[in-house]
Amino acid sequence: MVPKSSARTDASDLADIDRRYAFHPFTGLAEHEKSGPATVMVRGEGVWLHDNRDRRYLDGMAGLWCVNVGYGRREIGEAMHSQAITLPYCHAFSSQCSDIPTLLAERIIQMAPVPMSKVFFGNSGSDANDTQVKLVWYYNNSRGKPLKKKIISRQRGYHGVTIMSGGMTGLSGIHSGFDLPLSFVKHTTAPHRLWEGFGLGDSDFVAKLVSDLERLIEKEGAETIGAMIVEPVMGAGGVIVPPAGYHEAIRQVLDHHDILLIADEVICGFGRLGHMFGSQAVGLQPDLVTIAKGVTSAYFPLSGCLVSEKVWRTIVDGGKKYGVFGHGYTYSAHPIGAAVAMANLDIVDKENLVAAAASKGAYMHEQLRAAFADHPMVGEIRGFGLIGAVELVSRQDPPLAFDPKLGVAGRVAKKAMQNGVITRALPSADTLAFSPPLIVSTSEIDTLVSGVRDALDEVQEQLGSEGVWQP
Ligand SMILES: Cc1ncc(COP(=O)(O)O)c(C=O)c1O
Repeated sequence: MVPKSSARTDASDLADIDRRYAFHPFTGLAEHEKSGPATVMVRGEGVWLHDNRDRRYLDGMAGLWCVNVGYGRREIGEAMHSQAITLPYCHAFSSQCSDIPTLLAERIIQMAPVPMSKVFFGNSGSDANDTQVKLVWYYNNSRGKPLKKKIISRQRGYHGVTIMSGGMTGLSGIHSGFDLPLSFVKHTTAPHRLWEGFGLGDSDFVAKLVSDLERLIEKEGAETIGAMIVEPVMGAGGVIVPPAGYHEAIRQVLDHHDILLIADEVICGFGRLGHMFGSQAVGLQPDLVTIAKGVTSAYFPLSGCLVSEKVWRTIVDGGKKYGVFGHGYTYSAHPIGAAVAMANLDIVDKENLVAAAASKGAYMHEQLRAAFADHPMVGEIRGFGLIGAVELVSRQDPPLAFDPKLGVAGRVAKKAMQNGVITRALPSADTLAFSPPLIVSTSEIDTLVSGVRDALDEVQEQLGSEGVWQP
């Protein structure tokens, strides 16, 4: 084994190797090829990441909203090790079954936010959402409704990056250059009050969103629409919390038009909103549920599609027409992933992390309001459970966005990182996100919030000295 202290792990060496050989996701490629990474992470513990220059960073994003139990959990490492030397791999094709994935399937179905019948395992949120669309198509083909294929998604929704899930994602940065979205994906209005319903109360805003959805369904024809996909609370699109009554109202419309509802619980599932699933927190009653991230706290890539009995029965019937169900991945129901999920869910239960997310979340929102409410660059502070956002605007009332070319939130996130706290500038607007591991302490929340506020003040000063913005 190459020792950790080898010359190959020297800070500048590693950054240069990365600059020369690594093709990074969601990265300015020319800039990276020129300058390389800002730092090289080598270790994680609790909510802290450590780089190879002995600096530490409070990870206010739990990686990408996923390391819910925090870094360095021995129980998970041991479960992974033990599974790797017992049964490292076993496929699940042709009815082949292994012990731990089977027990995980039972556990997940028993936990589901609404009654569900089966779970199909995959490797990422993106491939699980792809599978969901294939299930919707197979379902409608099986029941003799082959025209019902279009998928409704929402502007600013994030569902992944494969051709299909990237198409359902409602963010232009994920479409540009990739010939997306596909013609059969239709995006409706996001429940983002700042930009879509400024000044409206909950019921008026819900009415507007419902009427936009109904208009879209009428234009496209309900007989051509198979499903709508929604996140309970939208994550990467801006941490957007829907108005009260929204999901119930949407469900009624979909039921009326015989359209399935997919809940994308990739971020919200497993405690983030202070409920085991986001659907429970916001009154969402899905036919299909997508899980990933928090099921393993990202210690191993594992995702799943939960399927209701109604959809399952029809898919089973489809076998009479189509034969053996022709979909699956080499790594579906991976035994190591399943062992990791079991150990991770044990921690979530034993340490009451769902309740912790609710109480720490309430504390985090108090601190966010206290730190940001008086700031002239802040348009909205929002969130739910242990997920929050501060959206930056150049004018507060009526709100006006900053010129995207200024990259204001990106500058704040960069400064915060230099100061040792990690937030994320979300791709859709100048929004800073907060989604720390569920084990975060109140004093760590204080450090996170004050670190980002300091960074915002520095950027405000910078914009002033550049002469591009004054309060
Ligand atoms: C709600 C949601 N769905 C799907 C995905 C895609 O998951 P993955 O990156 O594992 O493909 C993400 C990723 O952030 C997500 O936030």
